Amino acid sequence: MSGEKMLELGAAVRPLWGLAGDAIHLNHGSFGAIPLEIRQAQATLCDRIESHPDGFFRDDVMPGGPGAIRRAASALAEMVGTTGDRIALVENATTGIEAVLRTLEPKPGEHILITDHQYPAVLRAVERRCRETGAVPLIVHLPFPLDLSTTTARIADAMAGKRVALAILDHITSPTALVLPIAETIAMLKAAGVPVLIDGAHSVGQIALDLDALGADWYVSNAHKWLYAARGTAFLHTSATAPFDPLPILTSHFVEERFPLSFDYVGTRDYSAWAALPMTIAFWRRIAAAGLTTHCRSLVDSGTRAMGDIGAVPVTAEAGPGFMRTFILPQSRTAIPGDEAALMAGLWKDAAIQVGTFVLQDRLLIRFSTQVYVTSDDIDMLVQQLDAKGWPGR
Ligand SMILES: Cc1ncc(COP(=O)(O)O)c(C=O)c1O
Repeated sequence: MSGEKMLELGAAVRPLWGLAGDAIHLNHGSFGAIPLEIRQAQATLCDRIESHPDGFFRDDVMPGGPGAIRRAASALAEMVGTTGDRIALVENATTGIEAVLRTLEPKPGEHILITDHQYPAVLRAVERRCRETGAVPLIVHLPFPLDLSTTTARIADAMAGKRVALAILDHITSPTALVLPIAETIAMLKAAGVPVLIDGAHSVGQIALDLDALGADWYVSNAHKWLYAARGTAFLHTSATAPFDPLPILTSHFVEERFPLSFDYVGTRDYSAWAALPMTIAFWRRIAAAGLTTHCRSLVDSGTRAMGDIGAVPVTAEAGPGFMRTFILPQSRTAIPGDEAALMAGLWKDAAIQVGTFVLQDRLLIRFSTQVYVTSDDIDMLVQQLDAKGWPGR
């Protein structure tokens, strides 16, 4: 992306990504999509790294100076309402969550709280830590039809009479694309003395963040989804008042350094994606200035109306500020595991349309993601295809 001309969003910006031209990409939420310019910036950095590996690893990665990794953390911090000394870069949300879970020492019988909309890999990590420590998962049911205003009360009710060592809440849920009212829930949890980790895997680049004001103890977000960062770029924020500073899950030379320096060098690996973050943020800012939020929100609204015409029901009435929306596809029977895979595979095979699909609480769910390269024609094609071909159990 070059020059100062304002970008026109939609089909015009799609060539900025390397996405296959003969397909409709409505699943940015699952794995992101890296713009060509960011891949090029990363490749240029790799050339520089390979021209003098010692220089890069010793001066830019290892703790000791304001090298590339710390500059990247500070650039990101400025964007999310904190300072670089509160931000550790990690490879993905999974790694950041695992670092908190591995440092946490729950007592046998204490609970680790999550909701039933949590990302499945996070549930696996919680179950594993519970098996190791004798702690017990506490899974809060948030039933359909979802009323977000009841979330905090449901969580408070589920905790009554229990000792909770950690609560993990999604900022934006993965299968249901809900932007949870986390500020209110965090306030309730902190008042009850419960440490809070927010899984914001989908947040940075999609919704505004002010992490120091939010009040969570830890906050994890992927930059390789909505901020357009090269894959393997995420961060772990630790508040100044958190009960502990997480340790990296890999033990390396600098594990005894203070947070976040303990995370900067975790062995010889490819740090080019992290070093490219300042370029990534500059790219995102240009896209944001060109109308990212307005474009995506208007697609969510028009797409919701079109999905309604074929009987798909949004999982919650509130549209929320996010760029994705999830719908229940009505079925003549209970959804069964495999319905989601059949629906996703069928849309791809028959119409080259990629969406997110899930089975949750016995319902078949479909999630479309918007992005600046998505157009209303793309979503219309999805709706037409669903109308014509149906879905499992319709
Ligand atoms: C809510 C949530 N948490 C965690 C993750 C894991 O992200 P990653 O695979 O980048 O670690 C995802 C991935 O989509 C997610 O949606």
